This record gives sequence, C-alpha cells and structure tokens, in this order.
Amino acid sequence: MTLPGVLLLDAAGPESGALATTAATRGHQVHAATTAAAYAGYGPELKGLLAGRVVTDFARPDRALDEITAYARRHAVGAVLTVNEYLTELAARICAELGVPGNDPGLARAARDKAAMAEAFTAAGVRAPYTVVVRDDAGLRAALADPRVGFPCVVKPLSGAGSAGVTVVSGPDSAPAAADTARAAVGMHSSGGDSGVLVQAYAAGTEYSVESLTQDGTTTHLAITRKQVTGGPKRVETGHSLPVRLPPAIEAAVHREAQTAIRAAGIRHGASHTEVIVAADGRCTAIEIGARLAAGQIGILIRHALGIDVWAALLDVALGRPAALAPTAHGYATVRFLTSPRAGRLTSLSGFPKTGPGVPFTRWRAALGGTVHEPGANGHRLGSFVVTGTDAAEVEERADALLRQIRIGVEPAPGAAQVRPASTSAIAP
Ligand SMILES: Nc1ncnc2c1ncn2[C@@H]1O[C@H](COP(=O)(O)OP(=O)(O)OP(=O)(O)O)[C@@H](O)[C@H]1O
Ligand SMILES: [Mg+2]
Repeated sequence: MTLPGVLLLDAAGPESGALATTAATRGHQVHAATTAAAYAGYGPELKGLLAGRVVTDFARPDRALDEITAYARRHAVGAVLTVNEYLTELAARICAELGVPGNDPGLARAARDKAAMAEAFTAAGVRAPYTVVVRDDAGLRAALADPRVGFPCVVKPLSGAGSAGVTVVSGPDSAPAAADTARAAVGMHSSGGDSGVLVQAYAAGTEYSVESLTQDGTTTHLAITRKQVTGGPKRVETGHSLPVRLPPAIEAAVHREAQTAIRAAGIRHGASHTEVIVAADGRCTAIEIGARLAAGQIGILIRHALGIDVWAALLDVALGRPAALAPTAHGYATVRFLTSPRAGRLTSLSGFPKTGPGVPFTRWRAALGGTVHEPGANGHRLGSFVVTGTDAAEVEERADALLRQIRIGVEPAPGAAQVRPASTSAIAP
C-alpha cells in the first residue's frame, strides 16, 4: 500500500528537518512548499530527503493556496504541516481545502495576527492583557492615556514573531520610537500594508509556555516550560526549561488559559505553544498563542526530558492517526541561548559546548567576522545548547556552568561587513 505523501510548508530549520526525517524514515514521500530563495538555502541533506517541491510566494496567500493544493492533489498528499509561525493560517486553509486533518481556517488568523488574537481571546474569555490597536499618533496618545493600559506597557507589531519589534515602554516619551520599531518589524512573508501596532498592558510575573498537542479537538498538555527572558525594553528569550512543576492550583490555571486560547484559535489537529505570565499572586495571563510546535529547541527538550517524540506525534496527528503522547521518560531538559553583550563584529569564539553525555544538541549560528547585535530579538541569538538530566537543579547548574565557559570576542564596529551567518547544528547519536 502506498503511504500518503507529507507536505511541509517551509522545510527550513531544525524542527522541519526532524519532521522531514521522521516522515521519510517511515516511508512517506516528503514534499516541501517553499519560496525559490528559501529552497536555495536548503542543505544537501534536506534536499536529498525531499521527493519534490512546489515553489510559491507565501506573501500572496490566495495564490499560494491554489498552487499548493493543486500540487498536493497531484502528489497524493495526505498530511500538511508547518512549524513556521507565519504559515499556520495558510496551513489551516490548505488542510481544509484538501480535507486532511487541520485547524479551523475560519479562526486560524487569531494565532497569527495579534489584533485578531486579542479579539478572539476576549470573545472566548481568555485572561489576556488589555490591548488596543493604534494606527496613528493620535491613537497612540489616546492608548497611552487609557488607564487600562498604564505604564509600563508593551508596544508590538501586529503580526510579528521572535520578539522582533516588541518594546516594553516605561513612559510616554519612548512610545513613538517604540511604535516606529514595531511598524518596521515587517514579518516574514508579509505583504505589508497595515500600519497598525499593538499597545498592551504589561503583565508582571514569571513567564511560562504550555506545549500542547490537540487531536480531534482533544488537547494533551505535554509540558509547561519556564522561560528566561532578558529584562529592559527589549525582551529576548535566553533559556527554556521543562517540565516545570507548578503548585496544582497554578498549574490548573495555566492549563485552563491555554485550553481556552487553543479553542479561541481554532486548533483542532496540531501543536500549540501558549505563552503565559503568572503573577506573584498566582493569577495567569495569556500573552499569545502559536498554532505550531514551539521553536527554540523545545521539541528537543520534550524528546529528551519526557521521551515523547513530538515529531512522530505531529505527523500522526496530521495523518489522523492516534499519536503517542504519554511520557516514557521522567527527566529534565533546558536550553541556553548565547547572546552578544554588544553590537559589532564577532572576532573569536571559544568554549562552546560539544554534544556528549547530557548535552544532546548544540547549534551555532553566527559567522566569525560577521555582524552581531545587542540582543533585541530572538534572531540575534548566536547559538544554543541543550542540557538534560534526571535532576532539575543539576540540569540548570550544568547549563549555567557551560554558558559561563563560553568566551566570545566582539569588536565594536558600527560598519561591520554583513557576512552570511554560518549555521551548524549537531545532535548526539
Ligand atoms: N503584555 C505583556 N506583558 C509583559 N511582557 C510582555 C507582554 N507582551 C510581551 N511581553 C514580553 O515580550 C516578549 C515578546 O512578546 P510576544 O511574545 O508578544 O512577541 P513575539 O514576537 O510573538 O514573541 P515570540 O515569537 O518570541 O514568542 C514576551 O516573551 C514577553 O517577555
Ligand atoms: Mg512570544
């Protein structure tokens, strides 16, 4: 019997690579929908795995929908997946068009466009920060004067990701520049056009995310992840640790908000990543939801800490087969991201960990001689490594110790040459 084909929307990156490998190993033909430019950047290993590709322009989603569904029909595709935040709405539309398991295309925008998300959250009763969309200076002034917003507040792009263009604003003077930054942070595959930015009340507390998988409308929360995030006006995620055990009442509140957000975003078949902030008094606020597996190596953390193969599970969900979601391990895993202390040119690197026992994954992204930035978005991170073990505190201590051993040299050079980043990943056998 021929197995159904599997189509990935944008196959770049380690999570997509893991999905492609899993599907190919099981005997599925793996296809990619990609832009010409992105395909040019695919490595030989990924290209070798692919049975075929459809080149399209994701910035024109209606046309991409037609091209991709026509291709999928010709190639007997029975599962469509993406781990690209920007393509989750298109994925839902393609799944609906093909009649394969996917999310509700009528609600999928809520997981992509933060104005739609705020509306959907309010309608569904998700506890979320008070949010206003502003489109001009007068709107910005009115939002800042609104006592439901207050200071600090958060100014962010309507459809960004990776923390790009998000600023925590402490007073009215810095708000116009923050709005300009948010407007300038044009997301991947954006057709542009909307000048709106979001102004949001600040939720103080500790940041967590909930990693969930929904199958036929029933959700399993795989783990709660604690996040390390830089302070100050720019927030960059510098670490994730899971599984986190919260007091039962708080865990229940976190799961409840995640579940409500999942329903609000129409997630019926697939992964989700819900970011929440838990205040000192235990109250939980949902910041955002992504209709996809978390990025930032969280899939690898789940694999190593809990023994759940998230890529196999995602594939099963997309194919409409029962997914194996019960933990088979009871350990802990954490990832640390390295950032540059200042903008400039990367001149040296030493002490970056290698894979080995307890360090199953490392990834270095920055090229020597290339430009590095002060951390302003997740994309400015230079590299990452994962540490696993059976004791949560030991895992954290080891990760911090490994991070302290890394030395980088950065020469302040405002006009540093743009060198294409090198990207090397290693996964221990
Ligand atoms: N309302 C808020 N209150 C407090 N902190 C916030 C709020 N909104 C955003 N932040 C901080 O800014 C960070 C980035 O914001 P947000 O998650 O909305 O942007 P994003 O670009 O979608 O992020 P990513 O794709 O990295 O998850 C959050 O992780 C959090 O640290
Ligand atoms: Mg976020």
